[in-house]
Amino acid sequence: MKPKVYVAKPIPREAEAYIARHCEVRKWESPAPIPRSVLLGELADVDGLLTSGTRIDRELLDHAPRLKVVSNVSVGYNNFDIAAMKERGVVGTNTPHVLDETVADLVMGMMLAAARRIPELDRMVKEGRWRPGDDSHLFGTDVHHASLGIIGMGRIGEAIARRARFGFQMEVQYYNRSRKPEAEDKLGVRWAKLETLLAESDFVVVMVPLTGDTQHLIGRKELALMKPNAFLINASRGQTVDEQALIEALRNGTIRGAALDVYEKEPVDPDNPLLSMDNVVTLPHIGSATAKTRFDMAMLAARNLVAALTGGTAANVVKELLP
Ligand code: DGY
Repeated sequence: MKPKVYVAKPIPREAEAYIARHCEVRKWESPAPIPRSVLLGELADVDGLLTSGTRIDRELLDHAPRLKVVSNVSVGYNNFDIAAMKERGVVGTNTPHVLDETVADLVMGMMLAAARRIPELDRMVKEGRWRPGDDSHLFGTDVHHASLGIIGMGRIGEAIARRARFGFQMEVQYYNRSRKPEAEDKLGVRWAKLETLLAESDFVVVMVPLTGDTQHLIGRKELALMKPNAFLINASRGQTVDEQALIEALRNGTIRGAALDVYEKEPVDPDNPLLSMDNVVTLPHIGSATAKTRFDMAMLAARNLVAALTGGTAANVVKELLP
């Protein structure tokens, strides 16, 4: 008998067809997120779940007594309650590698957008506010040859460092739990203490996974260490930065600006003060969102799911849930 699978988000036809060759598939059809209550009602007989961002916690596991595998269509897996999944012997997989270069491209774009004020000036031109004469009020900040601090030197961090070093001749420091001597040699980057990196960088990029240790890794104290002309770029998870502290730092001129792809609450509330700040570039959590990369992520998630359910080796079981 084929394993039963629930696909809780829209995925490309090819990924669905791949799963359907090996499993019995039911799916959520709408582009709107599946309501939690609907999802819980679908899980009684399923062996596998394909999703992204859904909290996989005790409540969900209680509704899914046969569940063996959760395949996330994302590299981040902070939605997994690792302890609960371990207890029930549920495997979790993610989609690393295929999105590294795409996210790194976006981070460079965010840096340039904030430093050169691209969205703000785009609005000015489109709204007919471009006046001839002195343009000194439109000046921005150079990215080339500036200093960059990368917090979290995983594969995406390295892809950012490569662009920054060899494309923009930036000086790059990184902070990571473990040092990366190979990356240091290959990319010409150096490890620094978090405090040093914050104090010396013109651009600080947060690229750490969200865990108990990285929740509010950047708070009031860390922002106060940054240079007043520095920019904070966050493309990891919103909760790695204390958003209230960031709002205060931007209001007080503790730092010059920020570019954010992620927020403590998503979608962001329309009255969030960050949305009315000209020195903040805001994106809707689209780090991996190119057509090719999202296709590759869905295919990888489909392969992970099928392999884990049919006795093959799922290549991307998250390390905390490896046997
Ligand atoms: C990821 O893959 O983790 C991206 O942030 C999308 O959630």
